[in-house]
Amino acid sequence: MEEVAQRIREEFLEALQQVQTLQELENVRVQFLARSGRIPQLFDLLKTVPHEQKPCLGRILNELRSFAQERFDERKRVLEQSVYQRGESLDVTLPGRPKPLGTKHPVTQVMEEIKRIFIGMGFSVESGPEIESDWYNFEALNFPADHPARDMQDTIFIAEKILLRTHTSPVQIRVMQKQAPPVRAIMPGWTYRNEATSARSLVAFHQIEGLFVDRRVTFAELKGTLVAFAKQFYGNSIQYRFRPSFFPFTEPSAEMDITCYICGGKGCRICKYSGWLEICGAGMVHPNVFRSAGYDPERVTGFAFGMGIERIALLRYNIDDIRILYENDVRFLKQF
Ligand code: PHE
Repeated sequence: MEEVAQRIREEFLEALQQVQTLQELENVRVQFLARSGRIPQLFDLLKTVPHEQKPCLGRILNELRSFAQERFDERKRVLEQSVYQRGESLDVTLPGRPKPLGTKHPVTQVMEEIKRIFIGMGFSVESGPEIESDWYNFEALNFPADHPARDMQDTIFIAEKILLRTHTSPVQIRVMQKQAPPVRAIMPGWTYRNEATSARSLVAFHQIEGLFVDRRVTFAELKGTLVAFAKQFYGNSIQYRFRPSFFPFTEPSAEMDITCYICGGKGCRICKYSGWLEICGAGMVHPNVFRSAGYDPERVTGFAFGMGIERIALLRYNIDDIRILYENDVRFLKQF
């Protein structure tokens, strides 16, 4: 029996040495230490040996059992701490796998910043439909019946007198129809023109419209508002100018330029060597526009402005082809 105990001890040690995983270790436990394993079975045999041999053999078996249990526990501890236990243990020291995080589209970023500035000046944000009637898009905005902007060249028609809005100005009419003066609103959204796509123009693009209506609003307030906006958006040191212009729905009308911040006004490719960048169209709301919307032009005055967002994004990020904005190339988009 002593010899049997010695053999089991050796086999146990050998089996333990080959163990690589916790599962293999468990097999060794079942084979040697568990209730019906080989070591407890030896204890059963002890009952059959002559009485006088029991103390001595008992000591040997007890010693074997605690030896085996100790070795087993030690191996288990080592395995549980091992970084090689794939799937069977968690290695908290491994570096994490980074999940790529998206960024907001540059056009969205520009939009949000412009909105934030005007909201800060007390403007609300309104919206209107992209599919418009000829009346909202042209007629109510004082476009003469034969105005070239109504031509099929510029406008995408869906049906007779139903079209994709060519600017956000029809939202001015909708806002005034649903709300009594005063009005202080910006109206961002998609706009559409029937033009060939090129490095400088897209069929679908965004505008932000602005409308300010109250009693005795003057051109000075138009200038003050747009200058305050431009200084917040482009920086305090920019210079600006207002040039006379024409829109059917404003009178007088103007376009606002700022000094080209790429070349500092010296002249470069971006500003076409003029030193100036046009940033928006604006003007005092035409009395006929107030009449279309149901406002009394004898009682209120106002100003409106509109700017193209993609163009602003191009200038801001020094992008030389507008089409890249909508190609959804992540190598481009993740730079913002
Ligand atoms: N709607 C004009 C455009 O698309 C911009 C504009 C808006 C001009 C409001 C004056 C006032 O070019």
